[in-house]
Amino acid sequence: MEQYVIKGGNPLVGEVDISGAKNAALPILAAAIMTDETILIENLPDVRDINVLLEAIAGIGAHVDRVDRHTVKINGSTIGDLSVDYEYIKKIRASYYLMGALLGKYKHAEVPLPGGCNIGSRPIDQHLKGFRALGTDVDIRHGAIVACAENLHGSHIFLDVVSVGATINIMMAASMAQGRTIIENAAREPHVVDVANFLNSMGANIMGAGTDVIRIRGVEKLHRTEYSIIPDQIEAGTFMCAAAATGGDVMVRNVIPKHLEATTAKLLEIGCEVQEFDDAVRVRATRKLRRTHVKTLPYPGYPTDMQPQITVTLALADGTSIVTESIFENRFKYVDELTRMGASIKVEGNTAIIDGVNKFTGARVSAPDLRAGAALVIAGMAADGITVVDDIKYIQRGYENFEGKLRSLGAEIEKVSSEKEILKFQLRVG
Ligand code: UD1
Repeated sequence: MEQYVIKGGNPLVGEVDISGAKNAALPILAAAIMTDETILIENLPDVRDINVLLEAIAGIGAHVDRVDRHTVKINGSTIGDLSVDYEYIKKIRASYYLMGALLGKYKHAEVPLPGGCNIGSRPIDQHLKGFRALGTDVDIRHGAIVACAENLHGSHIFLDVVSVGATINIMMAASMAQGRTIIENAAREPHVVDVANFLNSMGANIMGAGTDVIRIRGVEKLHRTEYSIIPDQIEAGTFMCAAAATGGDVMVRNVIPKHLEATTAKLLEIGCEVQEFDDAVRVRATRKLRRTHVKTLPYPGYPTDMQPQITVTLALADGTSIVTESIFENRFKYVDELTRMGASIKVEGNTAIIDGVNKFTGARVSAPDLRAGAALVIAGMAADGITVVDDIKYIQRGYENFEGKLRSLGAEIEKVSSEKEILKFQLRVG
C-alpha cells in the first residue's frame, strides 16, 4: 500500500500544468463506443479511473489502442458483449456511463448497480427515469440494471435533481433515439458541455448544453472524430487552494479560467491575489487569510469536489468560517483526520464550523476519498513537521503525478510503500 510522506512548511512557488478533466474523459471514453468507426481522444489524464474504464471498454470487446499516456484510439465495431463486468463498477462508478452509450447504440445494456460510496448513498433513479422516458424497459436483476428497448424515442424529461451523471447518460442515449428529446433541469457543468461537443463532433445534434435545458435531435448513426478533452477544473482548483494554504505563488497553466470562477471568487474573498490570463491563473497568498462562508452547489456554484480543499484552507484563516455541503451527505469524513493535525472544526449535519488556527502540525492521517485525500496532502504541506497520508489509492484515481507536480512547486513530498521508506525520508529531510 502506497503512502505520501510530506515535510510541510514550504510555500508552493512556480508553474504547474493541469491535465485533462477526468470527469469529462470518463463519459467521452464511454461515448466513443457509439460508432463503429475509430475515435481518437487526446489530453486524456493518466489516472487510475481512466485506466479502469479503458479496461471495462476493452472488456466488452471494443478495440482500445493506447497511443501514448494521454492519447487513445477506440473502435467499437468489435463489441460482442453488452454486459459490463461488476469488477469494473466496483472500482469505478462512472462505468455506468456505458449504460447510456450501449443503450443508444444497441438498444440494450446490462450494467451492475453501483453501490454507495464514501461520500454518500448516490442513487441513480434519475438516470433510470430518463432511460424509461426514452422507451426503455429497465429491470434490476441479480444486482444489475438490465435496460432494453425495441426502439428509443425522444421524450420530454424533467430531472428532479440536478445530476451530472443523469444528464450525460440520458444525453448519450437520446443522441441515437428517434425524434427530439428535451432534458429540463439539466446539469450545466463544463464536462456536460464537453461531452455534448464530443458527441456533436461525432454527428450528434445536441443544443443547449451548458444551460439547464438541453435539446437533442436523435440521429441514426455517429461517425469518427478526433477530440481533445478540456482541462480539469478540480485539479486546477486543488493547486489554487494549495497555493493559498501554503502562502505560495503558483501559476496554474493550461486551464479555462471561466471554469474556475467559483474557486477564484472564494480565494479573492479570503485575501489571495488571483490574476487571470487567457489559459492560466496565478494565485498569490502574501498575507494572512480571512474567514468566509462557502456553500456547495451545482455549477456555476461552488463545486462539491472542491469542498475539502477550501475547508483546509479556511482552517488556517483568521476567524470563523462556515462550509455547507448541499450535494452529498457524507462529505466531511476527513475532518476528524484534519483535527488530528490541529484544525478546529465542528461538523453539525451538513455544515462545518471552522475556527481558523495559526498552524497545523504533521500527523499520520488516512485519505477517506479522492478529494478529501488531496485536501489532506494540502494540509500536510502547510503543516509543521512530517505528515504521512495513508490510502493514497483514492488520490491516484483522479490526480495525475500529484507528487511530481507538487515537488516541481517546491513541496517536499514522496510516494513511499513501506515504513522503512518513511524513515529514510524523515532522516533525509531532518
Ligand atoms: C459527478 C462527479 C462527482 C461530483 C458530482 C457533483 C463524475 C464521474 N463524478 O458525480 O465527482 O462530485 O458530479 O458535481 O463526473 N442524484 C440523485 N439521483 C440520481 C443522480 C443523482 O438523487 O439519479 C443526487 C446525488 O445523490 C447528489 C446529486 O444528485 O446528491 C448530484 O449528483 P450527480 O451530479 O449525479 O453526481 P455524479 O454524476 O454521481
